[in-house]
Amino acid sequence: MNQIAPRDGTDGLYDRVRHLVPEMEWETFVEDIRAIEVLKRERNAVILAHNYQTPEIFHCVSDIRGDSLALAREAQNTDADVIVMAGVHFMAETAKMLNPHSTVLIPDLKAGCSLADSITGADVRLLRQRYPGVPVVTYVNTSAEVKAESDICCTSGNAKRVVESLGTDRVIMIPDEYLARNIEAETGIRMITWAGHCEVHERFTPGEIERMRADHPGLVVLAHPECPPEVVAVSDFSGSTAMMDDYVRDHKGGRILLVTECSMSDNLAVRYPQTEFIRPCNMCPHMKRITLANIRQSLENMTHEVTLDPAMASRGRRAVERMLAI
Ligand code: 13P
Ligand code: SF4
Repeated sequence: MNQIAPRDGTDGLYDRVRHLVPEMEWETFVEDIRAIEVLKRERNAVILAHNYQTPEIFHCVSDIRGDSLALAREAQNTDADVIVMAGVHFMAETAKMLNPHSTVLIPDLKAGCSLADSITGADVRLLRQRYPGVPVVTYVNTSAEVKAESDICCTSGNAKRVVESLGTDRVIMIPDEYLARNIEAETGIRMITWAGHCEVHERFTPGEIERMRADHPGLVVLAHPECPPEVVAVSDFSGSTAMMDDYVRDHKGGRILLVTECSMSDNLAVRYPQTEFIRPCNMCPHMKRITLANIRQSLENMTHEVTLDPAMASRGRRAVERMLAI
C-alpha cells in the first residue's frame, strides 16, 4: 500500500504507530488528530492518557501519559484551563479533586470501572463500625464518595508504601480483594478487604501463564497486582503499569508477557521495539469507550464536565493528598 501523503506533521505521528495501526485506519484518524491539536491550543487544554488507551490516543494526541499515580500527580500540577481525561471516570474525579479550578472533561460518561462500582460510601461507614480504629486504605479506583470516607488512598504503584506507612498490623484495604491479598503477601500486614475485582485482571489464570511459558521459552511474566494472587505467584514480577514500563525499559530486549490490559503491550512496543511482547491479554471495555472522535467532541462541546460536591471533594482530596505526600 502507498505511503500516506505528507500533510501537516501527522505523517510523522504515523511513524510512531505504523506497525500497530493499518494505513486505512489511520486515514480515518488524521482529521480528528488535527482538530484535537487545534482545539487544545484554543482551550488551553491538556489530554491525560492512561497506559490502557489505544496507541492513536496514547502516542498521537495525549500530553501526559502514565499510570493512575502519575496521572493524579500531573493533574495536580498542570496549569491548563481544561483537563481531558482519556481514561475512566474515577480518574477524572481524582483530577477534579486535585485541581478544582480546572474544567475536567471525560469524553464518555459511561467509562466506569468494575472496582469503583463495587463499593459505596455507606459500605465504608459500615466497615468502620465493624472494625473501629483500623485505618481505611482505599484504592484510587473508587468514586469520590468512597474516597471521602477513607483515611488515605493508594494506587497499585504505591500500595505497599502506603500500607507500611500506617504502622499498624491490620488495615482495611478496599475494594480490590486481590490487590489487598497481594499486598498482604508482600508486607505481612493483615488485610480486611472487600469482594471487589477488576473484570479485566480477574480473568487471568495460572494455567494460561504456564501454557505461555511452555510455548515461549525464556518468557518473562509481569503481572498487574489486580490479578488473583495465584496468578501473581506464577509471575516473575508484579507492579503497576508504570512499574511494568520501567521493568521493560531497564531489561532491554527479551520476551515479555504483560498480564494486563491489551493496549499496554501495544503502547510499550512503540517505545521498546527490541522487546518481543507475547500477547494474550484482556480488553477493558471502559477504557475502550474513549476514542479520538469523542475526545474531539469533548473539546468542541466542553462535555462531559465532571463536577463534585465541594464538601465531599475536600474530604476525598485529603485522602488523595495524604497518599501523594508519601
Ligand atoms: P495502574 O495504571 O495505576 O497500574 O492501574 C491499572 C488500572 O487498572 C487502572 O484502571
Ligand atoms: Fe477498572 Fe479493571 Fe478497567 Fe482498570 S482495567 S478501569 S481496574 S475495570
